[in-house]
Amino acid sequence: MRLRDKKAIVTGAGQGIGRSIALKMAQEGADIAVVEWNRDTGVQIQKEIEALGRRCLLLGVNVAERRQVDQMVAEVIGVFGRVDILVNNAGFDRPGSLLKTKEEDWDAVFGVHLTGTLNCIQAVVPYMIEKSYGKIINLSSVWGKRGAVSEISYSTAKAGILGLTKSVARELGRYQINVNAVLPGFILTPTVSKMAEKYRNIIIENTPFKRAGQPEEVANVVAFLVSDEASFMTGAEVEVSGGWNM
Ligand SMILES: NC(=O)c1ccc[n+]([C@@H]2O[C@H](COP(=O)([O-])OP(=O)(O)OC[C@H]3O[C@@H](n4cnc5c(N)ncnc54)[C@H](O)[C@@H]3O)[C@@H](O)[C@H]2O)c1
Repeated sequence: MRLRDKKAIVTGAGQGIGRSIALKMAQEGADIAVVEWNRDTGVQIQKEIEALGRRCLLLGVNVAERRQVDQMVAEVIGVFGRVDILVNNAGFDRPGSLLKTKEEDWDAVFGVHLTGTLNCIQAVVPYMIEKSYGKIINLSSVWGKRGAVSEISYSTAKAGILGLTKSVARELGRYQINVNAVLPGFILTPTVSKMAEKYRNIIIENTPFKRAGQPEEVANVVAFLVSDEASFMTGAEVEVSGGWNM
């Protein structure tokens, strides 16, 4: 129960890594605001969190839309009274090689990953500063460090999240607000499971553990980073990749 009575926002918590993070944090004692634009998966995770005896707010929001995010945070403050933890996890990929990347895909990917992350941080931080307490986790990716063929928009946006994380960590350090990036490797979530086997096999072959990771293995690391056990960590890039990026 490292997060007893903490109030957390997890974006994209309907499935995959976000779902596991929300469940893990609820098991550790936190009340969770699930920010998820897919109502069906959102309702499901809400039931699972409430079954653990924690409160859960379900907010159907597109994180790339600033007005929706502001309303969402106002609602969370209205019900929970404060926000201790923000996990910026919502995201999607629009694969494309350099010459085939379309402007609309670039904009959409930057919208969810970079604008979405910035929107949530800007909306939440005034309440964290008020308490001189806060934990922010931004989901980047190993591809944000390595780059990846035919992943121009996604890799660039995930690299941008690293710059955003460090800049925000520098600005907010004086308020004792921890801001860290988590970089998953190849994690078996519903979306990633659809990847063609030949591509999956290439990644697995290059991963020292010779397997994909499970969403719970990312959630366990996030739960540590948002706990007070990680109180002196900020601006860190924490890879959870089975060694893929060595
Ligand atoms: N799975 C991996 O191998 C992997 C690797 C590296 C990084 N990541 C990152 O981890 C995060 C989670 O990945 P995942 O594989 O669990 O993804 P996923 O597609 O399984 O789940 C993402 C969730 O975010 C929600 N979402 C997407 N856009 C949204 C928006 N604009 N507003 C609100 N909700 C939105 C989706 O509905 C979905 O429930 C993402 O940021 C992803 O880029 C994943």
